[in-house]
Parts: sequence; C-alpha cells; structure tokens
Amino acid sequence: MASDGYDFDVLVIGAGPGGYVAAIRAAQLGLKTACAESRETLGGTCLNVGCIPSKALLHASELFEEAAHGTLAKWGVKAQGVELDLDVMHGTRREAVQGLTGGIEFLFKKNKVEWLKGLATFESADTVRVADRTVRAKNIVIATGSSVTQLPGVPVDQQRIVDSTGALEFAEVPEHLVVIGGGVIGLELGSVWKRLGARVTVVEFLEQILPGMDAEVRKESNKIFKKQGFELRLSTKVTGAEVRDGGVALTVEPAAGGTAETLDASHVLVAIGRRPNTEGLGLEKAGLQTNNKGQVEIDHDFRTSVPNIWAIGDVAPGPMLAHKAEDEGIAVAENIAGQTGIVNHDVIPSVVYTMPEIAGVGLTEEQAREHGEIKVGKFPMMANSRAKTNREPEGFVKVIADAKSDRVLGVWIIASLGGTMIAQAAQAMEFGATSEDIAYTCHAHPTHSEALKEAAMAVTGKPIHI
Ligand code: FAD
Ligand code: NAI
Repeated sequence: MASDGYDFDVLVIGAGPGGYVAAIRAAQLGLKTACAESRETLGGTCLNVGCIPSKALLHASELFEEAAHGTLAKWGVKAQGVELDLDVMHGTRREAVQGLTGGIEFLFKKNKVEWLKGLATFESADTVRVADRTVRAKNIVIATGSSVTQLPGVPVDQQRIVDSTGALEFAEVPEHLVVIGGGVIGLELGSVWKRLGARVTVVEFLEQILPGMDAEVRKESNKIFKKQGFELRLSTKVTGAEVRDGGVALTVEPAAGGTAETLDASHVLVAIGRRPNTEGLGLEKAGLQTNNKGQVEIDHDFRTSVPNIWAIGDVAPGPMLAHKAEDEGIAVAENIAGQTGIVNHDVIPSVVYTMPEIAGVGLTEEQAREHGEIKVGKFPMMANSRAKTNREPEGFVKVIADAKSDRVLGVWIIASLGGTMIAQAAQAMEFGATSEDIAYTCHAHPTHSEALKEAAMAVTGKPIHI
C-alpha cells in the first residue's frame, strides 16, 4: 500500500540503468513502486541500443579479425576460408539484447515493480500522466536519460548518415565510414566496422581524440588507432553533408577556419555527444527547469529544487555512463527510504572498449598537477609477462599519487584487459589506498593486473621488471 492518497510511494520515469535499478531498489526497501517507460522493452539506451549491442559487435568483430587476419594462425590455429555472415552476427547481437531486456522485465515482476507503459508527462509536482492513466506519487525520480546530439547540416537518415543506433544495424559493411567525433562511440563503433573490413576516417574537432582523458593516454591511443589503419583528421570540422551517387559528400574545413574540402564517404556516423532527455516531460508543470546544458540540477542527495522530485543518470550532471546511473539509482532509492545513499563521484571509472581497452579513474595527470605536487609511476604492458605471452604488448598502466601522502589520485590504463583491471584501481581509491598499498598487495602471476602493481611500485621508483 502506498502512503495516504498516493497511487505509489515512488514513480520512476525511465527504465534505463538509472531508472530500473532505482525502481528495483525502492521496491526491495518496501516502497510501492512504478516505473514509466515508453520503449517497447526495458533497459533504456544501455541495454537496447548502447552498451550491450555495441559490446556484442565489438566482441564478434574481434573474433572475426582474429580469424581472418592471422592472429589465430600465429598460434597454429588454422582457420581457412573465413567468411563474414553479418546477418548471423546481428542475430546474435539481438539475442543478447533480448535476453537482457527480458531479464529486467522478469526482475520487475519478481520485485513487484509496476511497469507503466508509455510516455510520462508531469501534470503537477506529484502527478504524472502516462498514456491514458494519471497517477499520483509521493516521490518521483526523473531518469529519462539522453539522446544523440544532432549536427546541423548533417541530417541523420539512418541509411547513409547514421547515429550510433543506425551504426549498430548496417546491413552491409560500409566501404568508407566517416565518423564525425573522435570520442567513445566513434572509436568503439569505428573499430567494429574497421575490423569487419571498412575503411574508417575519424573527423575530430579538437586537436586530439578522447577529450576528458589523460593527455598521455590520448596521445598513445591516437598512435595505436593510426597503426590499426584508422585515418584520423584532427582539428577539423564538418560543415555540411550531401547524399549523392550512393554515398555522402562531406564538406570539411580546419576547426580554426580555412579552406574547405570535400570528403567522400559511403556512410557517415555522427557521434558528437549526447544531450539530456527533458523535451515533452512537462518539467515546467512540476516547477522545474533545466540548466544551460539541458540537465536537471540536483543536490548531493539527488534531490531537485522540488523536494519530492529527484533526478539521476544521464539527465543529471556528471559523466553519461551506465554504472554512474546505476549507482545513483541505488542511492536515490535509499535516500527516498530514509537511508543514506551516497555515490562518490570522484571515483567513477570510464572505459573505451576498443582493442586495447582504454580505461581511467580519478584525476588525469594534468588535473592532479593543478591540485599540488604529485608522483607518477608507469609500467608498459610490453614488460608484463602475460600480456607479452598473449601477444598483447600495447599500452601501459599509469598511477598518479599525491607526493606527500602517497594517496592514489588517478589510474590510467591502456591494455587488452584495461576495462577489467580498472575495477581494482577504483576499489583501491575508494578505500583511500596509497600507491604503496597497491605495490605491496600480492597479485596473482601471470596476470595483466601485475602491471598495476608494478606501476604502483614505479611511483616510488622500484619496479622489478623494467
Ligand atoms: P537511459 O538508458 O537513456 O534510459 C532512459 C529511458 O527513459 C529510455 O529507455 C527512454 O525511453 C525512457 N524515457 C525517456 N523519457 C521518457 C518519458 N517521458 N516517459 C517514459 N519513458 C521515458 N555507458 C557505459 O557505462 N558503458 C558502455 O559501454 C556504454 N556504451 C554505450 C554505447 C552506445 C552506443 C551509447 C549510445 C551509449 C553507451 N553508454 C555506455 C552510455 C549509457 O548507455 C548511458 O549512460 C546510460 O544508458 C544512461 O542510463 P539512464 O538510465 O540515465 O538513461
Ligand atoms: P563523446 O563526448 O565521447 O565524444 C564526442 C566527440 O565529438 C568529442 O571528441 C568532441 O570533441 C567531438 N565533436 C563534437 N562536435 C564535433 C564536431 N562538430 N565535429 C567533429 N567532432 C566533434 O560523445 P559520443 O562518442 O557521442 O558518446 C556519447 C556518450 O555516450 C559518451 O560521452 C559516453 O558518456 C557514452 N558512451 C560511453 C561508452 C563507454 O563507456 N564505453 C561507449 C559509448 C558511449
């Protein structure tokens, strides 16, 4: 039973990693909970058209590349007549998505979360309309996520000019894919189609790819992608696109201005960022407005300026990452239930799932230097016995620690298993570890993770294997 006069104790709007997790935790805490979702399936961007399908294609394309381009042969595994069956690859991707989105539906039923199907719109601060139903909730959590940012002059038609959703669905391998934006999506989905045989050009407005990451990591990543055959056009902007003769003519010019030229592509992927979803939500009727980035502002407890309305995930400030949304989902439900839900926004790892993977947590070396004196330890994957044995020698681990306290401020990794290795760094930082704590923790041998231990040893100048 909900509190007096309300249909629900908690109504969550949006069933992405933020919303569905918030709804399940609220129900676990004994609150009568509903979740409004307008998509046909639960799981939001991440499960339907984001994290999961992109990782399915990254995995599949890596297997194809290993078989087709000689990596397996180097190990004496002979695969002759390797062929790509893109339909089967897409089928397996869809199966993965179906399994996981169906799994959330099962969890909703198990936890007695009611799914209100349809687009939710505020009618007042505690009343929301979802399709033909109007419900009152004591607490409302906005978890509406984000959508692709459009680039003026380059209209997405999901055929020749696609966004990330269209780039998951190409029916054939593009001949020449031009990716606009050298960020996470551009490099992950660019890698998929590159491995499957496309020529890939990345056009990036800034002077380097992967903004927001450690400068050394960005530079090394650039080198690695170039070596893989990516054509990188940095400090370049796209000013227009014309679909013609079975392809796209892109007009590009130097970011700082200058002579324009034409870049011919068979397909174009627009991946220049994402913007929060608040359109049509009727925020004004709830007494809310967005900030200049289109986000719903919140306080430390995820509460908006209207006390019974909360916001989490991509629609709220912070990195647009599924695990950040999930952790906020748990914390907001705990706060609504009168407990103390906290997310440490200083320790949120980020991973680019290319090969090698690129991962980081905490401060970049540049940011850390602004805070005070630091020490930096680095260890190359080339000197890690397991990575070397596996023929995965690219990359390094870098540990940044406070010069006086030795407390770890940031960890950056380029390594085939960087996305898995970064969890240890995040946990160490969450526990307030020093570089010495990591250096004196026994790591199993032979593992890629030993590179983190050695990088930590390098902070005070004592690595063993270099
Ligand atoms: P979303 O997942 O966007 O979910 C919001 C939901 O709300 C949507 O389903 C939407 O339909 C629904 N909704 C919106 N408005 C309404 C309304 N008015 N009424 C009812 N329902 C509504 N992040 C990672 O951490 N790792 C990755 O590997 C990763 N890969 C990605 C790959 C791609 C191609 C993309 C596009 C994103 C990726 N992300 C990844 C980012 C990740 O998907 C998002 O950070 C995450 O989904 C945000 O979760 P959320 O719950 O805030 O919102
Ligand atoms: P992004 O912010 O990562 O990268 C966008 C890139 O486009 C930037 O490098 C930016 O400088 C560039 N850019 C912007 N305008 C441009 C223009 N006009 N011309 C050329 N370049 C331009 O955004 P992206 O890749 O679209 O991804 C959106 C978000 O989705 C990410 O920020 C991330 O939070 C999330 N995501 C996370 C993944 C992961 O965790 N592995 C995978 C994919 C997405």
